[in-house]
Amino acid sequence: MSFLTTKTISLPAIIFCASFFVAPTYAQQIAEPNYDEAKVPEYVLPDPLVAEDGTKIETPEQWRNKRRPEILNLFKENMFGQFPEADLSKVKSEETVSVPDALGGKATRKEIKIYFNAPNEQPQATVLLYVPNDRKGDVPVFIMPNFQGIQTTTDDPGVSAYKVENSTHNLGKSPEETRGLAKSRWAFDMIVSRGYAIATVFYEEIEPDASRNFTQGVHPLFTNYDANADDYPAVIGAWAWGLSRVLDSLENVDGVDTKKAIVAGHSRLGKTALWCGANDERFAAVISNDSGCGGAALSRRQFGERVDRINASFPHWFTKKFHEYGNKVDELPIDQHELIALIAPRPVYVASASEDLWADPKGEFLSALNADPVYRLLGSDGFGGVTEQPDVDTPVGATIRYHKRTGKHDVTNFDWEQYLNFADSIFKK
Ligand code: GCU
Repeated sequence: MSFLTTKTISLPAIIFCASFFVAPTYAQQIAEPNYDEAKVPEYVLPDPLVAEDGTKIETPEQWRNKRRPEILNLFKENMFGQFPEADLSKVKSEETVSVPDALGGKATRKEIKIYFNAPNEQPQATVLLYVPNDRKGDVPVFIMPNFQGIQTTTDDPGVSAYKVENSTHNLGKSPEETRGLAKSRWAFDMIVSRGYAIATVFYEEIEPDASRNFTQGVHPLFTNYDANADDYPAVIGAWAWGLSRVLDSLENVDGVDTKKAIVAGHSRLGKTALWCGANDERFAAVISNDSGCGGAALSRRQFGERVDRINASFPHWFTKKFHEYGNKVDELPIDQHELIALIAPRPVYVASASEDLWADPKGEFLSALNADPVYRLLGSDGFGGVTEQPDVDTPVGATIRYHKRTGKHDVTNFDWEQYLNFADSIFKK
C-alpha cells in the first residue's frame, strides 16, 4: 500500500491544519487519492448486527434499544460530534414572500426567514420554497440545501439575493451576478409538476464553510458542549441541525406535509443529509447524491478522496477525533454502511456518478449493500435482493435504492427523475 504514505502535503496546508490543532503529526503526510481498484486494501467492515460487547443483534428491539444507540454514539464520538442542541424557543420563522403564480402558474413560491437566535437578526437563513398549486391537500416536501445562495437556483429575478457574511463561495461577485448559475441542479418545474414541494436553503447561512474555531453562524448557539471535547459538534453537524430547523419552519406552511419530508443533499451536503436523517427521525427518507468520503462511501476502501485527505482539506467538517484515523481507518469503530443503517427502516437513496471517482461510486454502492441486513432485520425489503453494482443509468433497489448516473459530480434531471420515482414509491402516489 505504497500510496498510503507517499505524498507530503504542501506547507500552506500544514500551516492551515496546524492553526487548528496542536502539532498534528498525522497531518504531516497524506496519501495521494487512490483511483486504482487493485490498491484497495483487504478490509473487514464492522458488523452492524454485532454489538460492541459481542452480542448478536437478532431482533428489532435489540437493534432499537441497544445497537442503534451504540452506533449513533460511535458516529458522534468519532466523526461528527454530538448532534447539536440549542434553545429552540429562540428559533423563529416567518413567511416573508408568497408569490402565487411562480413557474408559469404551477407553483406558489415562498420565502421563509429563520432567525436562529431571535429576537437577534443574526444568524438567519432564508428558505426558498415551491409548493405545487395543483394539489389535493398537503404534499410531501424535499428539503435540500444549496451551495451558493437561493438566487443561484433559478433565473427568477423575484427570488431574493443576499450577501452572506464570511461565505466562501462566489468571492468578489455580487449576489445578483450569481443569479441562476446553479439552476441546472434544481428541477423545480419537474418537481412541482410531479406533485412535490421543494425547500432549499443556502448552507453557509446556517454556518460558513470556513473554520474550525466554531464561532460563526449557529455554532455559538449550541449549549452544553465542551468546545475542547472530542465529540464537540463539528460543522457538518451544524449544517445538519440547520436542516432540522428548516423542517420546523415548514410546520405550519399551507400545502406542505412535514410528515412526508425527504432530506437530500449533494456532495458535502449529502454527507450532511445523511447525518441529519440519522439523527432527526422526523425525516421520512434520505437522499445522498454523490456524498463520497465521510458520506456514503466506505472509509476502509481508501479509494478516491480518503479520510486523511478530507481531514487535511476540510478540518472543520469532522471532529478532532476523526482526524486521528487518517492513516488507520481500519481502527474506526464504524464505517459508512452503518450511517445508512441508522436511517433504517426509512427509505434511503444513494446515488453516484460514473466520472466521480473522487467520491468512490463503488464504495457508495457497498455502503448501501452492507446496510441491507439491518433493513431486513427490521422487516424491510431493504435493497430488494440487489447484490451487484448495476450498470450506469440503471436504478436498482427497493427501500434502499442506488444508481450510478453517467457523468460527473453533479445533480441532474436524471437524478431528480429517480428521486421523484423513489418518493412516489414511498408516498404511494
Ligand atoms: C470536495 C471534497 C468532497 C466534497 C466536495 C463537495 O471535493 O473533497 O468531500 O464532497 O468537495 O462538497 O463538492
